[in-house]
Amino acid sequence: MSLSQEIDKRKTFGIISHPDAGKTTLTEKLLLFGGAIQTAGAVKSNKIKKTATSDFMEIEKQRGISVATSVMSFHYKGKIVNILDTPGHKDFAEDTYRTLTAVDSVILVVDAAKGVEAQTRKLMQVCRMRNTPVIIFVNKLDREGRDPFDLLDELEQELNISTRPLSWPINIGSRFKGVYLLYNQSLNLFEGDKTKKAAEYKAIDSLEDTKLDELVGEEDANQLREDVELIEGVYEPFDRNLYLDGLLAPVFFGSALNNFGVQEMLDTFIDIAPGPKSRETDKREVKPSEDKFTGFIFKIHANLDPNHRDRIAFLRVCSGTFERNTFYYHPRLEKKMRFSNPYTFLASSKDVVEEAFPGDVVGLYDTGNFKIGDGLTEGESIEFQGIPSFSPELFREVVNLDPMKSKQLEKGIDQLTDEGVAQLYTQQPGNRKIIGTVGELQFEVIQYRLKHEYNASARFDSLPYHKACWMTGDEQAIQDFIKYKPQDIVVDKDDNLVFLAQTAFMLDMAKQNNPKITFHETSEFKVASAN
Ligand code: G4P
Repeated sequence: MSLSQEIDKRKTFGIISHPDAGKTTLTEKLLLFGGAIQTAGAVKSNKIKKTATSDFMEIEKQRGISVATSVMSFHYKGKIVNILDTPGHKDFAEDTYRTLTAVDSVILVVDAAKGVEAQTRKLMQVCRMRNTPVIIFVNKLDREGRDPFDLLDELEQELNISTRPLSWPINIGSRFKGVYLLYNQSLNLFEGDKTKKAAEYKAIDSLEDTKLDELVGEEDANQLREDVELIEGVYEPFDRNLYLDGLLAPVFFGSALNNFGVQEMLDTFIDIAPGPKSRETDKREVKPSEDKFTGFIFKIHANLDPNHRDRIAFLRVCSGTFERNTFYYHPRLEKKMRFSNPYTFLASSKDVVEEAFPGDVVGLYDTGNFKIGDGLTEGESIEFQGIPSFSPELFREVVNLDPMKSKQLEKGIDQLTDEGVAQLYTQQPGNRKIIGTVGELQFEVIQYRLKHEYNASARFDSLPYHKACWMTGDEQAIQDFIKYKPQDIVVDKDDNLVFLAQTAFMLDMAKQNNPKITFHETSEFKVASAN
């Protein structure tokens, strides 16, 4: 098969939602359709419920499972679908943002009763920044929920995107009867059957067809006629180009738990979702169809097999063909590397892969060579863009509790921060180590992993900081600022200067008083300054 045929077959996407909206349940149903699993309940949820650390530790122990479910691939209607899992827990939001750099589109799950929630808003901001195409699945129609028109209004306003319903619910909650598919005038009638795999559609000639009254009752039939008339009057016909530009989100209604409304969404997704897209680098745009292989690392996962200290780096293939046992170039380290056991995630098992194509995700065993954002090429020195670190919001000083194990602690902290679990800063004089995260849970995870993987113990003492900002600009102005605030200046792992601001007010003051310095809240500036 030619490279362009391989590219055409691939659809790589992420499912995003506020926790509890139904992401895990929907993922499972998609896998059922794809034949990747045989029964519901087979996917172990790797989400972290509430803030129960014990759950997380339990998950850590089963890390084999969670690694396997970080990427799930299956065949469906002649395509290869790659689902990239994103942690729902807000403390792992940064991991999610980075995973979104490796997808070509997303499906957003919204709870019909709750509408737009905090994480929905944040995740969509990231998608909107990149113009990622979005399909919205309004879930839990079997429960009492909001009026669908109100929901659409809220989605448009809060997420700053136009919507276009492609299916429409007939009632909701205990009186939910099913959905009407606006694009082919058929009905999918609701039966609360969790085991049913394929939907059975009932075609009707038109909405005036009396069959509709027989099927859903006169009252609901009339309501549906009214609703559809309103929809067709208010919304433009669905325009795929607007969807591909990330400006218009088609909306489906259903119930993931009952596997209802999922198939029509998946079928539409297969039809309209973009294949592997081009990626920006510091030098040029990389197109999937280029002969030469390129890819980048968007996630690093510790491999918790106690006999091995290695990690798994997740590589998204961007162009050309990735081949096993072939030397590739690692531009940041300026060295060549090859991989004898790269694997893919087809059919939920880990299989060694001989070759992979744009859109695919490959798991590479790593002994500490990779950082998130690193590229691999056939020799070209390029840096992929748009894989930023964000400013942490919680800061703690690392205090070593076992002086005999300081080497282990240093190594542990160094490796864990390479994984993107947290950011590490160093303050001079004194070589103070400060860790910044976006959530409380990360500190517990780091502490646990330091103990179990590196045999080191540490305490984390709170520091009163609010944000970390990378500084660039006039050299003299920066030097003056450092002299004025030495206690709040640190360097990151790449020796970039960082200002730790104690409050939002102090950050504003620093910006106002130092117009020659730019304070960056994401590390994206590194790429900008390399241009
Ligand atoms: P998440 O990954 O987005 O966090 O959500 P998840 O799929 O775990 O779903 C959260 C809860 O919502 C689960 O219930 C799940 O069963 C339920 N759910 C998902 N889809 C639907 C739906 O269409 N209708 C209804 N009524 N419920 C739905 P739970 O009680 O928290 O967990 P569990 O014990 O059922 O696993």
